[in-house]
This record gives sequence, C-alpha cells and structure tokens, in this order.
Amino acid sequence: MLTVAPTDAVLGATITGVDLSKPLSDPDFGRILLALGDHGVLRFPDQHLDLGDLKRFSELFGEIQGNPISALDPNRPYPEVGILSNIKENGAYIGLPDAGQDWHTDMTYRDVMGFVNVLYGIRIPRRDGVPLGGTEFANMHAAYDALPQDVKTRLDGMTVTHDFEKFWEHMRQHKNSGRPAMTDEQRRRRPPVTHPLFLLHPITQRKVLYCNEGYAVRINELPQAESDATLDYLFRFQLEQRFRYTHHWNENDLLIWDHLGTIHRAIADYGPDEIRLMRRCQVMATKVFDPDFLRPARALQMA
Ligand code: SIN
Repeated sequence: MLTVAPTDAVLGATITGVDLSKPLSDPDFGRILLALGDHGVLRFPDQHLDLGDLKRFSELFGEIQGNPISALDPNRPYPEVGILSNIKENGAYIGLPDAGQDWHTDMTYRDVMGFVNVLYGIRIPRRDGVPLGGTEFANMHAAYDALPQDVKTRLDGMTVTHDFEKFWEHMRQHKNSGRPAMTDEQRRRRPPVTHPLFLLHPITQRKVLYCNEGYAVRINELPQAESDATLDYLFRFQLEQRFRYTHHWNENDLLIWDHLGTIHRAIADYGPDEIRLMRRCQVMATKVFDPDFLRPARALQMA
C-alpha cells in the first residue's frame, strides 16, 4: 500500500509501497499529486527504473521538455530523458555537468511553465561515507504566506518577466561554467516571457510566490528602480532559512518536485573525481491546470 511519510521539515515526504516501474492506479496517482502539492518534494527510495520507465512515469504529469539549448539527438534512445553528470568520455562530458547550480525554478522562462522535475540518482558522490551533491529547495507556499500583508496587497495582480539568458549568463560569469554565450538563434528560441508574481497553485488552491532569482528580471508594473529593489527583497526573503530543505541523495532515489511551489538549486560540493550521475525529465505544466487531470486527486479529497 502506498504510504506518504512527511519529513519534519518545511518540505519533503518519502513515498513507499509503490513500484514506479509498473503502471500506477488512479488512486495512487491521486495520492502522489496531493502529496506533491502538500510537501513539494517527494522521494521514492529504492526504485529500479530503466529509461522507458522514467519517461512513462514522467509523462503522467505532462509533456517532457527537451534540452532547451542543444538539439535533441534523435539517435540516442529516449532523448527526452536527460543526463546530468560530471563523467567525461573521450574528453567530453556525457551530460550537463553544472545544471541548476544556483537558485532557480525550471522553465519559468517558458510560456508553458514547468510543473515537475523527475530526477533519478544513479551514482552519488560520497566523502567519508557522507553523500555530496544534494539538492536544496525553498518552499514558496510558506514564503507567500509569510510575506507582510502590505507587500502582498501592494504586489497583488502584478506580473514578472522571466528570461532564460539571465541564468545562462550568471553561470558563465559567476560560476566558472564552460558554457558558450547564447547565439542569436538560441535567443530567438527562448524569448523572455511573463507570468503572475503570485500564482494560484492548481493542486493546493493556495497562492505561491512564483518568482526566482535565476530567471526573473522585472516586475512589469513597477518602474525599473522599484522593480529592482522589490525583486532583491523577494529573492532574499524567499531564501530565509525557515523555508529551506535539503535532499541528501541515495543511489536509486527517484525524486520529484513541484516547480510551481518550490525553488531549488543543485549543491556543487563535490570534485571532478567524485562522480555524480543522474537522469532527468523536466515536465511542463501542459496538464496540471486542467481540472480533469486533477480528478484522481479531487476524488480522494471528496471520499
Ligand atoms: C536541476 O536543477 O534540475 C538539477 C538539480 C540537481 O542536479 O540536483
């Protein structure tokens, strides 16, 4: 039987009693959706999944985004299941070595925002038995709730511009990333987009602070200087320790998290010889705003 055991932290739950290599029943999928809304980050320990399993499970939540910069390699099996790793073969990384190594939320830079990240831990670096390369999160339901009422009132109904290039350039300029500058063609494929600053979460029906330092560049309804000052305030506020939670990995952990209700970063505390290998599907919010998709979750709430 599927069991949800919340951590005693501000985010996170461990889900046992389910084998994700097998099809999920409607009630189990409903439980997972509700737990995702409530706890933001879900760990399914000791899962044994091949690429097809990862793709099939991820697609339950929505359409998978391909790599936004490089074209998908049609010769690779399951090209939509990405590789995050510092492994090199013939002098080249086999996947992205530095993905997400500062605070951000995936796909806020797209018209159709991100909903879920599915990350499968295959090789986890350890030093003296302690796992490295954790993933840290902050809870944006809690951050919105804790904002002073005058800030909520002043900013209510405002929108934010998100730009893919902001994080890309940040990694290049401040994180020693070997990424090349974006080309004009890549910029054309990723134009800035606008989303509400406070978003009604489709599962919890509560407001979240939908804003992240990785991609947010401007509060559109404010003059530039006021927008800059307000974004600075929100970026600092949302990272207060009381909202934060770190997942420490084990091999065969399947972790999923809700992009609408959290922000996250990968912790780069391991060296080039300490190998980390993850498989990732970035799932877009192509389904979650459709009430029919949430039917299995709502059925449980009514029961
Ligand atoms: C990501 O930002 O998607 C990567 C997170 C991680 O590798 O821990």
